[in-house]
Amino acid sequence: MFKIFVYKTYDEVSQKAFEILKDIIKVDHPITLGLATGSSPVGLYARLVEDHIKNKTSYAHVTTYNLDEYVGLPKGHLQSYLTFMNQHLFDYIDCPRNQIHMPEVHVDDLKAAADAYSAAVLTAKPDVQVLGIGSNGHIGFNEPGTSFSSTTHVVGLKEETRLDNARFFSGLDEVPRYAVSMGITEIMSAKKIVLIATGNKKALAVKEMIHGKIREEVPCTILQKHQDVVLILDEEAARLLND
Ligand code: F6R
Repeated sequence: MFKIFVYKTYDEVSQKAFEILKDIIKVDHPITLGLATGSSPVGLYARLVEDHIKNKTSYAHVTTYNLDEYVGLPKGHLQSYLTFMNQHLFDYIDCPRNQIHMPEVHVDDLKAAADAYSAAVLTAKPDVQVLGIGSNGHIGFNEPGTSFSSTTHVVGLKEETRLDNARFFSGLDEVPRYAVSMGITEIMSAKKIVLIATGNKKALAVKEMIHGKIREEVPCTILQKHQDVVLILDEEAARLLND
């Protein structure tokens, strides 16, 4: 089931996502967050950091699992998703480092590490999964054609996704060709999903997600089967919804 919120500006979108996350974080029992990288949640993370500094909202009881990580970048690479999360969130909050998890990519046996990650996420059952969406409808790095029964796995990145992400690298050649991503199974296991989408490029994927036939060619369509998805959109991303 989708609850849809549409706002004019990215700031308003981020504020709404922040309010939802803050309510989940401000409890006195252990909780688990599934987190995403990319440009969509940057404003949300900035607000979580600001709130932690101003209001001392604590993350001592929070465990995190990120959706995905590139394969092939050296440890500490500026464009690794761990670096991104450190720069936007983890370096500024009091979440213990041993409660922060990224898919393990600096290992010989990627498959075994992916299976262990999957088991950990499915056991934890994230209270909320933050998502962005690709212009081709991917969620996490589950590209078109990924099985709906997929679990954490190594993925080859599609050309359009590499092109989308090339802006963060010095050139297309620098963009990794592989990543490890949670599968659809782990994403769907979250109790709640908060998906942020802004800009014209997302409009078609957003329309498919809500109104499209549920099919593996458009991974985000699986979200129609989740019981609690909050979509936070700007007007550009929502512009095809009433057609
Ligand atoms: C990021 C992720 C991706 C992004 C998606 C949108 O961890 O898994 O699915 O959420 O590519 O990226 P942005 O937000 O940069 O438009």
